[in-house]
This record gives sequence, C-alpha cells and structure tokens, in this order.
Amino acid sequence: MGTAELERVREEFLAALRSAGNDPDGVEAVRVRFAGRRSGLLRDLEERLKVLPKEEKPAFGKALNELKRFVGERLDAAQSAAAEAARVAEAFDVTLPGRRPETGSLHPVTLVRREVEEIFLRMGYSVADGPEVEDDWHNFEALNIPPDHPARDTQDTFYLEGGLLLRTHTSPVQVRSMESTKPPIRLIIPGRVYRRDSDLRHSPMFHQVEGLVVDEGITFANLKATLEAFVHVLFDPALAVRFRPSYFPFTEPSAEVDITCIFCRGKGCQVCSQSGWIEILGAGMVDPRVFRACGIDETRYTGFAFGCGLDRVAMLKYGIPDLRLLFSGDERMLRQFPAGVAR
Ligand code: FA5
Ligand code: MG
Repeated sequence: MGTAELERVREEFLAALRSAGNDPDGVEAVRVRFAGRRSGLLRDLEERLKVLPKEEKPAFGKALNELKRFVGERLDAAQSAAAEAARVAEAFDVTLPGRRPETGSLHPVTLVRREVEEIFLRMGYSVADGPEVEDDWHNFEALNIPPDHPARDTQDTFYLEGGLLLRTHTSPVQVRSMESTKPPIRLIIPGRVYRRDSDLRHSPMFHQVEGLVVDEGITFANLKATLEAFVHVLFDPALAVRFRPSYFPFTEPSAEVDITCIFCRGKGCQVCSQSGWIEILGAGMVDPRVFRACGIDETRYTGFAFGCGLDRVAMLKYGIPDLRLLFSGDERMLRQFPAGVAR
C-alpha cells in the first residue's frame, strides 16, 4: 500500500474520462465513481489514509491531495466540454429539416381599407385621419345634430368622462378637415368607430371610410358617378347598385347605397334580413348648415360626402356571413387571408 496505488487510480481515472468523451452522462458516471461523496474511490483512499502507520501518512497524504486536485480539475473541464458540445449539437443539427418562419396575414378589413384607399388615390383624393375620442361638437353639433335630435338614437353612443365620447362615425373628421383647410377638398378618411350595436351585421366597434369633396359647382351627379365607379371597381361591374332616398342631418339630399346581397344573390336570406340587398354606405350633398359651422362660404361652395362600412364590404367581398367573426380573434379565420390575397 503506497503512492503506487494512487498512480494506478490516476491512470484508471484518465482512461474512464477518455472513454466518456463528450457524453454528459458518461462524465457524470466517472465523477460519481471517483469523486462521489459517499462511495467514490477518492473517498475510500481518504479512509485508508486514516489507518496508515504514522511514518507513511505524510507522503501518502500529499500524493492523495495532489490526486484529488487533479481529478477535480479534469472533471470540471470534462463537464464544461460536454455541456458545450451538447449546446452546439442542439443549435446546429444540420440533419434536421429547416424551420419555416410563421408569416402573419393581413386582416380582411385591412385588405379592404387598402383597396379602397388605392381606388380613391387613383381618383386624386388624399387620405386623412382624426381622433377616435371625440367631443360633442365634432361628432354631433357641427354636423347639425343638436342634443335632443332623434338622429342621436340611431347612433347609440359610448360616452366618456368630461363631455367626450367614442366617435360614432368618421364624419367628425369632415368637420375637422373643413375647419382647417380651404376648398377645394378631396379626402377620404378611414378609421374605427363605435356604437352600442351587435348582431349579424353590426358590431360595437367597426370601420368606416368617409369621403368628402368640396369645391365650386359640385353636384349630386358627381356624387352618384363617383360612388357607382367606386362600387364597380371594388366589387364587380355587373353588380346591382341602388341609391335609396334617406336622411342624414348633415346632408341634403341624402341617400343610402345598397348592393345585391352576395349570400343569396338577391333572393333574401338571414344576412340581408330577407331584403336581397345590403346597405354599404350613406351619402349626400353637404348641408349648408355644416358649411356654416365649419366656416366655409356656403354661397360659393357645394360638396358631397359619404360614409361606407368597411366591415360590411369585407363581409361581402369575402363571403363572411357574420360580421362579429371579423373581430373574434379566431386564427382559423385569419389564416384564410394569406398575405397577398388583395382582391
Ligand atoms: C353614418 O354613419 C353616416 N356618418 C354616413 C354618412 C357620411 C352619410 C357622410 C352622409 C354623408 P350610418 O349610420 O348609416 O351612417 O353608417 C354608415 C355605414 O356604416 C352603413 O351603411 C354600414 O355599412 C356601416 N355600419 C353602420 N353601423 C354598423 C355597425 N354597427 N357595424 C358595422 N357596420 C356598420
Ligand atoms: Mg344607415
């Protein structure tokens, strides 16, 4: 019994470490076998040191300490080499098939908004926007809707503190534009609007695009031609479009525009409430009272305006039978609109 045995243990240890290579489990097994706290070989040697004759202790003890240090260092090095090898193997397994990045898609309302913008940009319009949190003046008063006006009932409003509200339509941006720019004005204004409304065709948050044209000599014929061209480019030139007399406090005369219900092709179904038509926009000639409220000379200028429901258009274009599906956040619905499906 002497330092020669320690030399043998050292050789054995090195051989075991070599055969474990970069395998983390193998290295761990070597650690347990040699340096394990309970029954490792080094532990046994320490026990043996205790019972050696006095004169042999110093030399054996010194050699054992050196061996322990050597084993400790080699194990540490082998463990980090194995961990690094595992990390590299995981990160760069060139035998695995490549991972395809998940690409998102554009929401159908975004697709429709972009298409509408493109159509009007080609006709020489600019695109504007305005705040979703509005005041009573811009959303109602300046549009000729005083506080007790019955038209307020058809736009059931979410009121906020401090006299503010969530805009119920994009028409307040008409007012903002006329307050800040002189005619000629040719604008479209897409954006989100809010009403206490929810069924197959109505959602409490929806999208409109407003149109506003103000200049000398603008007539209802300009309105009709513009909207017909718009609907025919957006949908299909063969589609039936009808102008129905209507009422808005801020336009006179006023009309609502319907297109054939694409779900039943005009026969009548649940989506169109059996009428065969779906309303997509409201329009009319700007009421002189609105011009006056905005500081525009109503004896010199005339104009037309319209407000179109973008979600309705998306529904009709893509055959989505319930408007609320658009905002359900259901990925299965969104996946049907891969990027690039623009029309
Ligand atoms: C208005 O909001 C007027 N500001 C439109 C207008 C602008 C008229 C300029 C004249 C001049 P109306 O409430 O009808 O009108 O809404 C316009 C369009 O928004 C409707 O034709 C419809 O397509 C859509 N719409 C209305 N309510 C909802 C709703 N809750 N969910 C989805 N779309 C809706
Ligand atoms: Mg309406």
